[in-house]
Amino acid sequence: MLSEKMTEALNAQLNMELQAYYTYLSMAAFFEDQSLKGFSTWMFHHSEEEMAHAMKIYDYIYERRGRVKLSGLADPPHDWETPLAAIETAMVHEQKVTASIHQLVKLAREEGDYATDSFLQWFVDEQVEEEAVVDDLIQKLKLIGDFSPGLYLLDRELIATQPDAGEEQA
Ligand SMILES: [Fe+2]
Ligand SMILES: [Fe+2]
Repeated sequence: MLSEKMTEALNAQLNMELQAYYTYLSMAAFFEDQSLKGFSTWMFHHSEEEMAHAMKIYDYIYERRGRVKLSGLADPPHDWETPLAAIETAMVHEQKVTASIHQLVKLAREEGDYATDSFLQWFVDEQVEEEAVVDDLIQKLKLIGDFSPGLYLLDRELIATQPDAGEEQA
Protein backbone atom coordinates (compact mmCIF):
# COMPACT_ATOMS: atom_id res chain seq x y z
CA MET A 1 0.00 0.00 0.00
CA LEU A 2 1.04 3.55 -0.60
CA SER A 3 1.90 5.73 2.37
CA GLU A 4 -0.32 8.72 2.97
CA LYS A 5 2.53 11.04 2.11
CA MET A 6 3.23 9.23 -1.17
CA THR A 7 -0.47 9.18 -2.08
CA GLU A 8 -0.62 12.92 -1.55
CA ALA A 9 2.53 13.50 -3.63
CA LEU A 10 1.24 11.29 -6.47
CA ASN A 11 -2.07 13.16 -6.44
CA ALA A 12 -0.16 16.44 -6.69
CA GLN A 13 1.73 15.02 -9.68
CA LEU A 14 -1.55 13.89 -11.23
CA ASN A 15 -2.81 17.47 -10.89
CA MET A 16 0.39 18.81 -12.48
CA GLU A 17 -0.02 16.51 -15.50
CA LEU A 18 -3.63 17.66 -15.89
CA GLN A 19 -2.47 21.27 -15.63
CA ALA A 20 0.02 20.56 -18.43
CA TYR A 21 -2.80 19.01 -20.48
CA TYR A 22 -4.90 22.14 -19.95
CA THR A 23 -2.05 24.57 -20.70
CA TYR A 24 -1.04 22.77 -23.91
CA LEU A 25 -4.64 22.59 -25.06
CA SER A 26 -4.82 26.36 -24.57
CA MET A 27 -1.62 26.68 -26.62
CA ALA A 28 -3.12 24.52 -29.37
CA ALA A 29 -6.07 26.95 -29.48
CA PHE A 30 -3.67 29.91 -29.63
CA PHE A 31 -1.79 28.38 -32.58
CA GLU A 32 -5.06 27.51 -34.28
CA ASP A 33 -6.00 31.20 -33.98
CA GLN A 34 -2.65 32.16 -35.55
CA SER A 35 -3.36 29.87 -38.53
CA LEU A 36 -0.36 27.75 -37.54
CA LYS A 37 -1.96 24.37 -38.10
CA GLY A 38 1.28 22.40 -37.68
CA PHE A 39 2.02 23.96 -34.30
CA SER A 40 -1.57 23.57 -33.18
CA THR A 41 -1.68 19.87 -34.14
CA TRP A 42 1.70 19.28 -32.49
CA MET A 43 0.52 20.96 -29.29
CA PHE A 44 -2.78 19.10 -29.34
CA HIS A 45 -0.93 15.77 -29.47
CA HIS A 46 1.32 16.94 -26.69
CA SER A 47 -1.70 17.81 -24.54
CA GLU A 48 -3.14 14.33 -25.16
CA GLU A 49 0.15 12.83 -23.98
CA GLU A 50 -0.12 14.78 -20.74
CA MET A 51 -3.61 13.39 -20.19
CA ALA A 52 -2.16 9.90 -20.74
CA HIS A 53 0.53 10.66 -18.11
CA ALA A 54 -2.19 11.75 -15.68
CA MET A 55 -4.11 8.52 -16.28
CA LYS A 56 -0.98 6.42 -15.77
CA ILE A 57 -0.68 7.93 -12.29
CA TYR A 58 -4.42 7.56 -11.70
CA ASP A 59 -4.23 3.83 -12.49
CA TYR A 60 -1.11 3.35 -10.41
CA ILE A 61 -2.65 4.95 -7.32
CA TYR A 62 -5.53 2.47 -7.48
CA GLU A 63 -3.26 -0.45 -8.22
CA ARG A 64 -1.53 0.29 -4.93
CA ARG A 65 -4.84 0.77 -3.08
CA GLY A 66 -4.47 4.51 -2.75
CA ARG A 67 -7.18 7.09 -3.33
CA VAL A 68 -7.27 9.51 -6.25
CA LYS A 69 -8.28 13.01 -5.23
CA LEU A 70 -8.71 15.51 -8.02
CA SER A 71 -8.16 19.17 -7.31
CA GLY A 72 -8.82 22.35 -9.27
CA LEU A 73 -6.88 23.49 -12.29
CA ALA A 74 -5.66 27.06 -12.73
CA ASP A 75 -6.77 29.10 -15.74
CA PRO A 76 -4.14 28.51 -18.42
CA PRO A 77 -2.60 31.47 -20.27
CA HIS A 78 -4.46 32.26 -23.51
CA ASP A 79 -2.10 34.47 -25.44
CA TRP A 80 1.60 34.75 -26.13
CA GLU A 81 3.60 37.46 -27.88
CA THR A 82 5.17 35.01 -30.33
CA PRO A 83 5.18 31.27 -31.08
CA LEU A 84 8.62 31.17 -29.44
CA ALA A 85 7.21 32.67 -26.22
CA ALA A 86 4.51 29.97 -26.17
CA ILE A 87 7.00 27.13 -26.64
CA GLU A 88 9.25 28.64 -23.98
CA THR A 89 6.30 28.53 -21.56
CA ALA A 90 5.96 24.84 -22.39
CA MET A 91 9.66 24.35 -21.60
CA VAL A 92 9.32 26.05 -18.20
CA HIS A 93 6.40 23.76 -17.43
CA GLU A 94 8.33 20.66 -18.52
CA GLN A 95 11.26 21.64 -16.32
CA LYS A 96 8.92 22.06 -13.34
CA VAL A 97 7.45 18.62 -14.03
CA THR A 98 10.94 17.09 -14.25
CA ALA A 99 11.93 18.61 -10.90
CA SER A 100 8.69 17.37 -9.36
CA ILE A 101 9.21 13.80 -10.69
CA HIS A 102 12.74 13.82 -9.26
CA GLN A 103 11.36 14.87 -5.87
CA LEU A 104 8.90 11.97 -6.05
CA VAL A 105 11.73 9.52 -6.77
CA LYS A 106 13.61 10.92 -3.79
CA LEU A 107 10.57 10.43 -1.55
CA ALA A 108 10.02 6.87 -2.83
CA ARG A 109 13.65 6.02 -2.02
CA GLU A 110 13.44 7.63 1.41
CA GLU A 111 10.36 5.54 2.17
CA GLY A 112 11.89 2.37 0.73
CA ASP A 113 8.92 2.24 -1.68
CA TYR A 114 10.73 0.44 -4.51
CA ALA A 115 7.55 -0.21 -6.50
CA THR A 116 6.84 3.53 -6.80
CA ASP A 117 10.50 4.17 -7.52
CA SER A 118 10.31 1.68 -10.40
CA PHE A 119 6.98 3.11 -11.63
CA LEU A 120 8.50 6.60 -11.71
CA GLN A 121 11.49 5.63 -13.84
CA TRP A 122 9.28 5.68 -16.95
CA PHE A 123 8.49 9.34 -16.15
CA VAL A 124 12.17 10.17 -15.57
CA ASP A 125 13.01 8.89 -19.08
CA GLU A 126 9.92 10.50 -20.63
CA GLN A 127 10.92 13.91 -19.24
CA VAL A 128 14.38 13.67 -20.83
CA GLU A 129 12.72 13.01 -24.18
CA GLU A 130 10.06 15.73 -23.79
CA GLU A 131 12.56 18.40 -22.80
CA ALA A 132 14.74 17.46 -25.80
CA VAL A 133 11.81 17.67 -28.23
CA VAL A 134 10.65 21.04 -26.87
CA ASP A 135 14.21 22.37 -26.87
CA ASP A 136 14.63 21.34 -30.51
CA LEU A 137 11.58 23.42 -31.41
CA ILE A 138 12.91 26.40 -29.42
CA GLN A 139 16.26 26.24 -31.23
CA LYS A 140 14.55 26.11 -34.63
CA LEU A 141 12.32 29.09 -33.76
CA LYS A 142 15.36 31.06 -32.60
CA LEU A 143 17.09 30.26 -35.88
CA ILE A 144 14.04 31.49 -37.83
CA GLY A 145 13.76 34.72 -35.83
CA ASP A 146 11.44 37.18 -37.62
CA PHE A 147 11.69 35.44 -40.99
CA SER A 148 8.04 34.48 -41.58
CA PRO A 149 8.64 32.14 -44.55
CA GLY A 150 10.81 30.12 -42.13
CA LEU A 151 7.93 29.95 -39.66
CA TYR A 152 5.61 28.85 -42.46
CA LEU A 153 8.00 26.07 -43.48
CA LEU A 154 8.46 24.88 -39.89
CA ASP A 155 4.69 24.80 -39.49
CA ARG A 156 4.46 22.60 -42.60
CA GLU A 157 7.23 20.37 -41.23
CA LEU A 158 5.32 19.93 -37.96
CA ILE A 159 2.20 18.83 -39.83
CA ALA A 160 4.27 16.26 -41.75
CA THR A 161 5.69 14.74 -38.54
CA GLN A 162 2.29 14.17 -36.89
CA PRO A 163 0.98 10.60 -36.53
CA ASP A 164 -2.16 11.52 -38.52
CA ALA A 165 -0.16 13.48 -41.13
CA GLY A 166 -1.89 11.60 -43.97
CA GLU A 167 -5.28 12.89 -42.91
CA GLU A 168 -4.03 16.42 -42.35
CA GLN A 169 -2.51 16.73 -45.80
CA ALA A 170 -5.29 14.97 -47.68
FE1 LIG B 1 3.78 14.74 -18.46
FE1 LIG C 1 5.29 16.82 -20.67
